[in-house]
Amino acid sequence: MGMDSSPPSASPPPKNEWYTNELTNAGLTPVHFFSHGSTMMLGEKSASADYWRKCGAEALERNIKGVVIMGAHWDCLGDKIQVATNPQPAKSPVAYVDPDKYVNYKLNPDLPTAQRCIDMLTQEGFNADGNASFDWIHDVYLILIHMFPNGCPPTTIISMNARYDPHYHMKVGATLRPLRKDNYLLIGTGGAVHNLYRNLWAPMLRFRDNFAQETPPEEWALEFRQAVEDVILKTSGPQLRRAMTRLMKHPRFRDAHATDDHFMAAMFVAGATGDVEDLGASAVMPAEDWELTNMCNSQFTLGAWSKGITA
Ligand SMILES: [Fe+2]
Repeated sequence: MGMDSSPPSASPPPKNEWYTNELTNAGLTPVHFFSHGSTMMLGEKSASADYWRKCGAEALERNIKGVVIMGAHWDCLGDKIQVATNPQPAKSPVAYVDPDKYVNYKLNPDLPTAQRCIDMLTQEGFNADGNASFDWIHDVYLILIHMFPNGCPPTTIISMNARYDPHYHMKVGATLRPLRKDNYLLIGTGGAVHNLYRNLWAPMLRFRDNFAQETPPEEWALEFRQAVEDVILKTSGPQLRRAMTRLMKHPRFRDAHATDDHFMAAMFVAGATGDVEDLGASAVMPAEDWELTNMCNSQFTLGAWSKGITA
């Protein structure tokens, strides 16, 4: 018996199909990873704020059903995760911001979608339930006010889990990813480089100047900021999930994040945009603001609106 020279029976995967964004991303909403920075980002003009407003306008043009957002200031103990179900949430107050910038902004909790998220998470094995007394925090409403200055769309807040397991939060994003096919806008709000212990606070405390940059950012901040940009802009699909979770093992991670809370939303975003179906999806970083010398507020969008869909 000679060598079998017949071609393999299984046909090879269609060349380049996975990498053709038009094919893989049709009908999937983009997902944002926003760095909300300090509370002063709520009241000050910035490139980030301009970009947030643009993203909000685009989302409204596409007639989104609502926003589903994970922040950086609400976590649950044990193995629990919660979804905000307070029908009339108050806002946690913030310092260094004129109250006129936020006190009268009307929040719009989306209770039906909250229940839908609880059901999706429970079905996937999460210990998930609603929290009917949770008040909203600036990590979320700072972003909403900039994105949607004329009115808040129906919004659902997903908590973090206080064990800060990157794979857990990635799975939360993966579980809620199907909402992208139903015209929901998923957002993670945290920070690319966000270590409050290593910020230089004096210009903000003395002069209300959060953008003062008397010295360059320190090496560890530049290094980790670059690592985050590289992962988000240069990987996609399951590779994005692996690379994003691995960032928490980066030698500069603990310098860039004294606590894990402001990086969990990045895991959520990787879960929501890191399916095989997302291979080759576009990713952009259209805006960035350094604050307090060492805090890097990078703004990312993963995926893009399908050209064929209009409101
Ligand atoms: Fe924060």
